[in-house]
Amino acid sequence: MQNTDEISKERAIKLFDSLEIDSFEVGSTKGLQQIHQYLFGGLYDFAGQLRAKDISKGGFRFASHLYLSDSLNKIEKMPESTFEEIVAKYVEMNIAHPFMEGNGRCMRIWLDLILKKNLKQCVDWATIDKEKYLSAMQRSPVNDLELRELLRTALTDKIADREVYMKGIEQSYYYEEVDNYK
Ligand SMILES: Nc1ncnc2c1ncn2[C@@H]1O[C@H](COP(=O)(O)OP(=O)(O)OP(=O)(O)O)[C@@H](O)[C@H]1O
Ligand SMILES: [Mg+2]
Repeated sequence: MQNTDEISKERAIKLFDSLEIDSFEVGSTKGLQQIHQYLFGGLYDFAGQLRAKDISKGGFRFASHLYLSDSLNKIEKMPESTFEEIVAKYVEMNIAHPFMEGNGRCMRIWLDLILKKNLKQCVDWATIDKEKYLSAMQRSPVNDLELRELLRTALTDKIADREVYMKGIEQSYYYEEVDNYK
C-alpha cells in the first residue's frame, strides 16, 4: 500500500505534464492553495484549506491563525520582479505557513512558478543539500541571507527540463522525510 507521501509525490511528478499547472495562479494565496489541493486533495481533509489552529516547528511559531488571512492578503501583494523580492516573498509565505501540513512541498513549487514567470529561471533543488536547506529555512525569519545565497547558486535556466523537475521533486520530498522520524 502506498502512503500519503508516496501518492502525493506521484501527483507532483504528474504535474509536470498536466495542463492544470498552467491554470494555477502565480504568486497568490489562491495559487498556493491550488497546488496544495492538487498534491493533497483526498489525502488530507484540509487540502487547499487555510489552517484554523496555530502550529510551530523547531521552536518557531508560524503566523497566528487569527491573522492568517490578513497576512496572506499582504504577502500575495508583495512584488516579485527581482530575485531578492521573490526570496523575501517566499520567506514571508513560509512564516505564514498557511496549511496544517505540506507547506514546504507546495511552497517550493509555488516559488518555482514565480521564478519561471518573472525571471525565466527556477531552482535546481537536487543541488541543494537537505541540512543546509533546512537550516537556512530555520534561520530565514530572522535573516534570509543564507537562504538567498543557497537559492541563488542553485538557480538554473533549464525551466522546461524534465530531469531538473523530476530530480527536484525527489529532493523536495526527501527534505520532508525529516518529519517521519519525529
Ligand atoms: N524552524 C523553522 N522555521 C521556519 N521554517 C521552517 C522551520 N522548520 C522547517 N521550516 C520550513 O517548513 C517546511 C516544513 O513545513 P511542513 O511540514 O508544513 O511542510 P511539508 O511539505 O510537510 O514538509 P517539508 O517542507 O519538510 O517537505 C520546511 O520545508 C521548511 O521550508
Ligand atoms: Mg511536514
